[in-house]
Amino acid sequence: MNGAFSAKAVRLETPRLILRPWTQADLEDLYAYARVDGVGQLAGWTPHRCLEESQFILDMFIGEDKTLALEHRETGKVIGSIGLEELAHLGPELDPLRGREIGYVLSRDFWGQGLMPEAVRAVMDYCFGTLHYDFLTCGYFTRNTQSRRVNEKLGFRFYKQITLDTRYDTVETTNLNLLWNPEREEAHV
Ligand SMILES: CC(C)(COP(=O)(O)OP(=O)(O)OC[C@H]1O[C@@H](n2cnc3c(N)ncnc32)[C@H](O)[C@@H]1OP(=O)(O)O)[C@@H](O)C(=O)NCCC(=O)NCCS
Repeated sequence: MNGAFSAKAVRLETPRLILRPWTQADLEDLYAYARVDGVGQLAGWTPHRCLEESQFILDMFIGEDKTLALEHRETGKVIGSIGLEELAHLGPELDPLRGREIGYVLSRDFWGQGLMPEAVRAVMDYCFGTLHYDFLTCGYFTRNTQSRRVNEKLGFRFYKQITLDTRYDTVETTNLNLLWNPEREEAHV
């Protein structure tokens, strides 16, 4: 089952980032990284073509209340997002347990500095330590070695392979990984 989550209730701080709800003031920052070619395609969406498209997505982020903005302390800019999505593609053995699927995107200008592992670690601590989730999942297209590396660094393990239809009419083979709350880990190894 889906663990309860409200982005509005969250503010997490890491050495280089503040994770907090999206606001309307973040529109230009969202457009700046979402318009760049080769970023969204790795996560199943196409680059934003205009500010209005980013406005639509920003309104969705705020309305759905399940996506956090990653504010870069040094520049004060929002440089990415982490979503806590509803669960899908899981087996019945997980139905009675609480979890969510993590999705993330980072501005291309900041790739390779370990920022997303730093951010996801803070979300893991919050979901397991404060919200007492049993598990988190994370899916990435098998060609997305960058996201695979983030999963590996954080201890996610392979759960199952699925195929996903993207919003730009391709079919992507996707690895769905799973991470247990460390307090439950022993029961599942
Ligand atoms: C996946 C993503 C969030 C990783 O964030 P990050 O903060 O750069 O993560 P890391 O710094 O740990 O780097 C992860 C891997 O990316 C690769 N990488 C690093 N810099 C890179 C660059 N400039 N270009 C391409 N790949 C790069 C490396 O393989 C690295 O692994 P390594 O540390 O073992 O060398 C980021 O690449 C991204 O936003 N990608 C586009 C959207 C996406 O893939 N979302 C996930 C969908 S499931």
